[in-house]
Amino acid sequence: MPPVSARLPVFPWDRLEPYKATAAAHPDGIVDLSVGTPVDPVPELIRTALADAADSPGYPTVWGTPALRDALTGWVERRLGAEGVTHTQVLPVVGSKELVASLPAQLGLGPGDKVAFPRLAYPTYEVGARLAGAEPVPYDEPTELDPAGLKLLWLNSPSNPTGRVLSKDELRAAVAWARAHGVLLVSDECYLELGWEADPMSVLHPEISGGSFDGLVAVHSLSKRSNLAGYRAAFLAGDESVLGELLKIRKHGGMIVPAPVQAATVAALGDDKHVAEQRERYEARRAALRGALEGYGFRVEYSEASLYLWATRDEPCWDTVGALAGLGILVAPGEFYGAAGGAHVRVAFTATDERVAAAVRRLTA
Ligand SMILES: Cc1ncc(COP(=O)(O)O)c(C=O)c1O
Repeated sequence: MPPVSARLPVFPWDRLEPYKATAAAHPDGIVDLSVGTPVDPVPELIRTALADAADSPGYPTVWGTPALRDALTGWVERRLGAEGVTHTQVLPVVGSKELVASLPAQLGLGPGDKVAFPRLAYPTYEVGARLAGAEPVPYDEPTELDPAGLKLLWLNSPSNPTGRVLSKDELRAAVAWARAHGVLLVSDECYLELGWEADPMSVLHPEISGGSFDGLVAVHSLSKRSNLAGYRAAFLAGDESVLGELLKIRKHGGMIVPAPVQAATVAALGDDKHVAEQRERYEARRAALRGALEGYGFRVEYSEASLYLWATRDEPCWDTVGALAGLGILVAPGEFYGAAGGAHVRVAFTATDERVAAAVRRLTA
């Protein structure tokens, strides 16, 4: 059997290892800004909900408890601005990466089908297409895609890695185009609550969707908004015919969010206070790092939302990675997200206040 992994793109985190070793040799230690993993505590009310549901001997359901579905529909209405959302229009998933990587296969896509995603993107959109044997198609502008054979169109706003936010008009145009060509539009909105200089909108907002979820699915995750990357808590909302089919497939596959995580999700989605507090932490780290990077000669592009600064010194990204590693600061080369990122680095502001202050000191010394 030919190895399935041979179909996958090379994602050479290994290439970062020597730079990591250089950065780690800094006398005051490494400041690792290369990955967007939360570092602040899981809010107390979420931990309590998890612990209170620890005695869960039976199988949970793929669709989730009625309480979870109420929490999902309630949040989609309250936070995304959608109206009249029903249980058939939501579906819990085991972290959104799992969903992104398996969605094309679970939709039955395969050879001859195309999956499109932004040219600079989270690599898992391409992985999902390749795992299914479908053709990955990077785009600059979704409405300029050739619709022949195209079955799935990914949007990602706010974007990883650039932090770019699509405007209302861009979202509306993508939705109209996808509907006109019968292409399913799936919008990865996992950074939606992390807008800084923009107010990101969901494709499910009536001003974008026209009041109908037909042909639209939004992907949401609690990893970033609630410091829950360790819990694997995410969900879909949107077109009930698509979600109903996915529910059937995922029941057969046993793709179930653990019961204590379902309970924790209910608590997390019912509370906006911890989200506001976490946003404040990130806002301060972002401002400090941005100022220091600009003072050091970087230009920061896009980055109006998400957990990243997309920065350039107009030089090959590996030169930048090397220069910052010399200061003990590790960042991700833009090339990891597509060849178009060859002159940029992605700087995550998910380190602790203490580590961010260390990076700022080194950049401003
Ligand atoms: C754009 C995007 N989508 C999805 C994910 C996956 O998040 P999770 O699997 O924690 O829900 C990430 C994580 O960094 C991401 O950047």
